[in-house]
Amino acid sequence: MRLSADEANAWIDAGTWHDALRDAPISELRDITGDRKSPDGLLHGPAVAIRLEAEGERRKNLLAAIRYHTVGSAKWDQTGRALYMADYLEPGRKFLAEDRGFLASQVPHNFEGVFRQVVRFRLEWSVREGNHIFPETVELWNSLR
Ligand SMILES: [Fe+2]
Repeated sequence: MRLSADEANAWIDAGTWHDALRDAPISELRDITGDRKSPDGLLHGPAVAIRLEAEGERRKNLLAAIRYHTVGSAKWDQTGRALYMADYLEPGRKFLAEDRGFLASQVPHNFEGVFRQVVRFRLEWSVREGNHIFPETVELWNSLR
C-alpha cells in the first residue's frame, strides 16, 4: 500500500496493543477509566489508551484507534480504520472465512470501500443479535454515506 513508515508503525502498534487489557479484571478497567456505567466489553480500549498516554504515547491517531476500536469512531483517520478492519478481517476467526478473506484482499485496492463494508457487516450482526447500537457506531455509519 506504500504507506509511510510512520503510518505503518502506527498500524502495527495499534494491532499489537489494542487488546492488551482485554483480559484484565473489570474492576481494574473501571479504576483506570473511571467509567462506572459502560458495559464491561467497552472498557478495555479506553483503558489501554489511557495507560499508553500515561506512559508517554503521543500519537493521537493511535490513541483514538485503540480507544474506540470496539464501537468505531467517525473521527478516525486511516490508522483507526485499519485497526477496525483488521480486528474483523483477521484470518484466525472462523465465521464468514471466504467473504472476509476476499474483503481483506481488497483493502490495498479500495481501503474506504472495504471499511464501509466492514462497518456494515458489524452493524448488521449487532442488529441481528439484538445488541445495543452505540452512538459512536451510528455516527460512524452515518458519516460514510
Ligand atoms: Fe478489543
